[in-house]
Amino acid sequence: MSNKQSVTDGAVGVSRAELIDLLNEDLAGEYQAIVSYVIYSQVLKGAQYMAIAKELEVHAAEELSHALIIANQIDYLGGMPTATPKPVKTSTDATAMLRFDLENENDTIQRYRARVRQCEALGEYAMAEQIRNILIQEQDHQISLATALGIEVPNVSDSSRVRLS
Ligand SMILES: [Fe+2]
Ligand SMILES: [Fe+2]
Repeated sequence: MSNKQSVTDGAVGVSRAELIDLLNEDLAGEYQAIVSYVIYSQVLKGAQYMAIAKELEVHAAEELSHALIIANQIDYLGGMPTATPKPVKTSTDATAMLRFDLENENDTIQRYRARVRQCEALGEYAMAEQIRNILIQEQDHQISLATALGIEVPNVSDSSRVRLS
């Protein structure tokens, strides 16, 4: 989206209007996550992927609950929730699908960690708490995807952050 949002994404001091824009980007990401988990959970093939395919179904439902929570926060702030998902990457390769999901979760975790700080800086402590609860589930998603891929859980702490949005 706009440059302004890229610049403010990780910044602590944002205005309420900027927070609405950032939450709408988060919401577009939640829609993307719902769609990709719906598809990937059904098309992942192979005995070694059956357990993770079942988990992805659970992720799909959790992403829907995140979308509802984020849309509720946008409405509370006086904004209008977006209707447009971020684009969903597809592949017929199981590893590629799991990697796309993991990259999205890494990005989402970085975004929500910034969002918690921004909400607190604005005195929106309840909103920060709602986002913390989402963050717990996103980190869970990240762990299960990394485990399915047989890799270490990526370190997405802010100091290693290379991409802003
Ligand atoms: Fe989510
Ligand atoms: Fe997630």
